[in-house]
Amino acid sequence: MSKIYLTTAIPYVNGAPHIGHAMDYLLADVYARYQRGKGNEVRFQAGTDEHGNKIAKKAEELGVDIKSYVDDNSKRFQDFIKKLGISTTDFIRTTDADHIRRCQEIWKKLESHIYKDSYEGWYCEGCERYITDKEYEENGGICPDHNKPYEKLSEENYYFRISDFKDQIREAITNKQMEILPEFRAKEILNLLDDSPDVSISRPVSQLKWGIPVPGDDSQVMYVWLDALSNYITILGYPDQDISDYWPASAQYVGKDILRFHAIIWPAMLLGLGLSLPKVIPSHGHVLSNGQKMSKSIGNVVDPMEVLDTKGLPAFRYFFLRHVDTFADSDFTWEKYDSAYNGELANDLGNLVQRLANLCKKQDLPGRKFEPARDAEYDKLMDSFYFSRAFDYVWSRVQSLNKEIDEKKPWELNKLEEKHDELVTILNSLVDKLLIVAYLLEPFIPDTATAIRDIFTADQILPPAAPLFPKN
Ligand code: MSP
Repeated sequence: MSKIYLTTAIPYVNGAPHIGHAMDYLLADVYARYQRGKGNEVRFQAGTDEHGNKIAKKAEELGVDIKSYVDDNSKRFQDFIKKLGISTTDFIRTTDADHIRRCQEIWKKLESHIYKDSYEGWYCEGCERYITDKEYEENGGICPDHNKPYEKLSEENYYFRISDFKDQIREAITNKQMEILPEFRAKEILNLLDDSPDVSISRPVSQLKWGIPVPGDDSQVMYVWLDALSNYITILGYPDQDISDYWPASAQYVGKDILRFHAIIWPAMLLGLGLSLPKVIPSHGHVLSNGQKMSKSIGNVVDPMEVLDTKGLPAFRYFFLRHVDTFADSDFTWEKYDSAYNGELANDLGNLVQRLANLCKKQDLPGRKFEPARDAEYDKLMDSFYFSRAFDYVWSRVQSLNKEIDEKKPWELNKLEEKHDELVTILNSLVDKLLIVAYLLEPFIPDTATAIRDIFTADQILPPAAPLFPKN
């Protein structure tokens, strides 16, 4: 049995969870369930990123106290994770006292790679990062992700000497000791790495109050990314506790927009602390709405709660894990959602369960005993982290089962007494195959997998009282 540690990006709490936030959780959950299914022990972190001006300003705008604002929003993320059926084991908030203290310890341990300097340049508060002059020019002075002009900052800050670690990071990415997925993103990071300047890791208190104080210097507060990235190890107890059972992480889930922080600054921090690098950093694409980035001004923001409430959790997980490509940007539209539900979940799977259970009931068949067995093709796809393809593969097995029923026409054998034994053999074999399919579906749509298993392993096979996916 191995110990597996999975992490997800911790969202800023300056608003409610949106549909994009679901992607880190869902993908990591698939891997967690897959690994548990193989008998491994999984520790699975999620959390909220609660410091920084962006959040402080939002609370101020709303006229509410910052602490109660972040408490409320963090709670919304915790509820969201529960509603999505995510099997996390740990939840961290960057305002937790333990995190704050451990983060300051981390700073002290990195001190030989930190120096103070003055800076004048451009900053994007949405990204919470400094922009190079080259990017400033390329983007015409406006952040393409946040649609806001960059701000000119002139301040004295602490810097982290990324250059101390560039060679080691480059080598780890190139030889896949720290694997970046999808592969083309590894190349992007290697290019960025060459040009990466040292990063500023503090802000003067006059500019940023809502943050972790720099140890030994009351005039400075830690840069929010240094604080946020540390969460992945402070939650394990670092540096108070030995974290070697779970570190290095098996996979650290991030969206493509924040890969650079995880593939450059974070490894530099780890190397500075003398810790190993994560094994894999899978970076997923973005969910678009009607072909465009979701934005309040365009008015195309999709509310995840509405999607969940419309057709329930299995439909939600099904769509975002299969029709949203694991690594590329993918589009959400209500038409696509409805058609995946009606055409695939209800027709392909729901009808299959109903049909087969009815045929078994007519023969009074008892449920079958299920013995899980590994499937090499499935394992290969799951191990490559390309879950939407693994899901496609499972679905092809659902479709083959439908085809097999159509070809064998058990309802015709049902009419002939002398064919009874042959009919029972066919039905039992179909049930065994469906139980394997349910087992392979478990990481993706666990509630449906359990429902199918319950039906076909019961003392007597009976169709569900209501269809698994009622058409609407
Ligand atoms: N607070 C930082 C992460 C710190 S991790 C040490 C942050 N927060 S965020 O709220 O902006 O984003 C959280 C996650 O949601 C990221 O992985 C991001 O890529 C993901 N997504 C945000 N919008 C998204 C889509 N539209 N689609 C898919 N994922 C997206 O960045």
